[in-house]
Amino acid sequence: MKFFPGNILAIETSCDETSAAVVRENSVLSNVVSSQAELHVKWGGIVPEAAARAHVEAILPTIQEALSIAAVSLHDLSAIAVTNRPGLIGALSVGVSAAKAIALAFDLPIIGIHHLEGHVFSPWVSRPMQIPHACLIVSGGHTELLDVQAPGSYRILGTTIDDAAGEAFDKGARLLGLSPWGGAAIQAAATLGDPERYVLPTAKLSNRFDFSYSGLKTAMLRLTQVEGERLNVADAAAALQQSIVSPLVERAIAAAEELDRALLTVVGGVSANLSLREKMAREASRFGIEVQFPEITLCTDNAAMIGLAGAFRFGRGERDDCHLDCEANSQLPGCVN
Ligand code: KG4
Ligand code: ZN
Repeated sequence: MKFFPGNILAIETSCDETSAAVVRENSVLSNVVSSQAELHVKWGGIVPEAAARAHVEAILPTIQEALSIAAVSLHDLSAIAVTNRPGLIGALSVGVSAAKAIALAFDLPIIGIHHLEGHVFSPWVSRPMQIPHACLIVSGGHTELLDVQAPGSYRILGTTIDDAAGEAFDKGARLLGLSPWGGAAIQAAATLGDPERYVLPTAKLSNRFDFSYSGLKTAMLRLTQVEGERLNVADAAAALQQSIVSPLVERAIAAAEELDRALLTVVGGVSANLSLREKMAREASRFGIEVQFPEITLCTDNAAMIGLAGAFRFGRGERDDCHLDCEANSQLPGCVN
């Protein structure tokens, strides 16, 4: 794989993190993430209009900080990579507009990157991507099991038929009265809990690499209603975490096994979960499969991963022009089902 050789400014604003990074080939020179989590707590979830306004306020200082940490000026840039799909349109368009303005002002090539392709690249900082490999993407908006046949060439093996794994963590956390940014809160509460005290359902699906989490949300709601004041939050958090993690481990390993892939990567915000990391590594080793995760700071949304995907796509000679647009929904490029 040939990476683009110059400095790339990468920008990510698809949801509630404003992020800018500078990458050169597959090295990350800086990666600044400004989170809006606190802003959305009072509404109990992400309000798209508020997210877009917060991106407008944060975008320029975040870019300036990324350039300053990398000790790179706008004149030292060779290209711009920006997440343009999928995501909240208002949020995406802040990053895309900033990227286009800089590209026009400094006469730089620009490329729009698919957010999930960024996650696929996130474990591959400063080292070549091993191919082929299986990849489980688990985030707030997506749960996808992929076969990465080559960089830019993917096959979707399974997906969620309803809620994403991160969404199940977030909704469960809200039902338990924890932070709406639930994954980390559930993980913390679950450390002292007994996962066997409450029994939560796992879905049976016709495609054995698909996932479903909406029944779990309903079961959690019922549990909180039935138990009321008696509910032990730590035990409920542990049961929820186990019910989210177990199908991820089981199906990702089954997919790697079936495809005869010696390597499985697990990426996206939920890949920061320690229980998932431990169980996946333990189970994979029983089958002789190696598991790799991104650094914790590169699990949740960040621009460094967008820069790596950009360095790969620019390296192949691809680029967009100043008409680059945003798309709320979009399939991963180079994808066959
Ligand atoms: O990748 P990401 O930042 O955004 C999307 O692309 O959606 O993922 C955010 C998701 C949220 O649902 C959050 O609760 C979850 O990642 N998350 C975690 C943990 N840290 C973040 N879930 C479980 N355990 C964690 N430690
Ligand atoms: Zn993401």
